Amino acid sequence: MRKPFIAGNWKMNMTAESGAALIKELTPLVKDADCDVALCVPAILIPAMTKAAEGTNIAIGAENMHWEAKGAYTGEISADMLKEYGVKYVIIGHSERRQYFGETDETVNKRTKAVLAAGMTPIMCVGETLDERENGVTEKILSRQLTVDLEGVEDVTKVVIAYEPVWAIGTGRTATNEQAQETIAYIRKKIGELFCPKCAEKVIIQYGGSMNAANCKGLMAQPDIDGGLIGSASLKKEFAQIVNYNKYWEN
Ligand code: PGA
Repeated sequence: MRKPFIAGNWKMNMTAESGAALIKELTPLVKDADCDVALCVPAILIPAMTKAAEGTNIAIGAENMHWEAKGAYTGEISADMLKEYGVKYVIIGHSERRQYFGETDETVNKRTKAVLAAGMTPIMCVGETLDERENGVTEKILSRQLTVDLEGVEDVTKVVIAYEPVWAIGTGRTATNEQAQETIAYIRKKIGELFCPKCAEKVIIQYGGSMNAANCKGLMAQPDIDGGLIGSASLKKEFAQIVNYNKYWEN
């Protein structure tokens, strides 16, 4: 019932030249994917990557967006600027933005609502730190994030949630299949409480954090995991293997 969704997050990597070359390499490898496929790229690369991905099944997404339509917000990107290039997805509230750039649950909430109002799909990130997991407060943290980040959202089924344990991002340390499944099932349950159980069944929830070609099959086999948000492995051909997680792959 939920169509799997694999998205890359290039973060502050690639250039127009290397990005277009990667998209060219990936295009034939992902064309028969059974899941939705996207690459979220730095804002300045969006025009060139949109062009590189034209006519393919790779959608281009952004890594952030401001909630105001326009104005004196130096360095920010608006919904209209993204829509002009046909951007479909916008990552919101990535833990790196929360950690290094002062993103709070309140600003995540504003951005999420602005992306929805503009007719795009937010990929809204939540997740606990290592300290929080070790102190047994993972569910408490996720409950707070989901409650505040989704406040006032009218149709939660239009939001993609990325569960990204902060301790697994870029560390090579992946959550086990069981940890990821258990936590994502909790997220779904919480969405059911905040909205309605039927809506929760429809929400796409991705796992993110060192997901790669070797561990994607096991993670994707979990009943509540509907996809992945991929950092490092989206910068190379390996991304195609993740997209084809359900197919036989010859190295
Ligand atoms: P990673 O990044 O795959 O490099 O751990 C994931 C993310 O931050 O979205």
